[in-house]
Amino acid sequence: MSRDQKFFDMYSLVIGVLAAIALGIFVLVMKVSDLTQGVYTRDTHEYQAAVAERIRPVGRVYLPGEEHEAEAPVVAAAEEPEPVAAAMSGPQVYNSACLACHGAGIGGAPILGDAGQWAPRIEQGIDVLTQHAIQGYTGSVGYMPPKGGRMDLSDDEIAGAVDYMVAESQ
Ligand code: HEC
Repeated sequence: MSRDQKFFDMYSLVIGVLAAIALGIFVLVMKVSDLTQGVYTRDTHEYQAAVAERIRPVGRVYLPGEEHEAEAPVVAAAEEPEPVAAAMSGPQVYNSACLACHGAGIGGAPILGDAGQWAPRIEQGIDVLTQHAIQGYTGSVGYMPPKGGRMDLSDDEIAGAVDYMVAESQ
């Protein structure tokens, strides 16, 4: 009998604790929903109107005689600014288009900073060097492709790169 009593006491205790926890969770949930309702309420007029506007079909079917209801589809005039590629500076052009050969002397290319290699070339004058860089040039040691193979670069950008290479190699 006393064992039954003990079991019963224990059982009541456990049930009591579980009930208390459940109540605690319930209260917590109520509190949380109280605090967040305002933020996430999706049935307000404004919200519904915004959704309706967003999912509005682009076109509608009209039968003859219903034209008066037709409204021109709203097509936002795309005003994309013309991409104006900013001209690259001399060092930028050098790094992206010339360094591959002129950095290490690939194919006999005069190495940037090597005054000995550049001196006889600089003697020709900057105009000749620029012209050779733009139009391509086959000299005694190898082939310099027009614009280093980067035909997307402007003549001015190439000239800037030549100026930079010459300035760095004196
Ligand atoms: C594919 C390799 C290569 C690339 C890329 C390259 N060059 Fe050259 N360049 C050469 C070679 C090789 C020579 C030497 C040609 C010779 O004198 O025989 C040379 C020579 C030159 C000369 C000297 C021309 C002369 O009259 O002596 C200039 C200036 C020059 N390059 C500028 C440039 C510029 C500016 C770029 C980048 C836009 C560039 N190069 C990219 C290979 C290259």
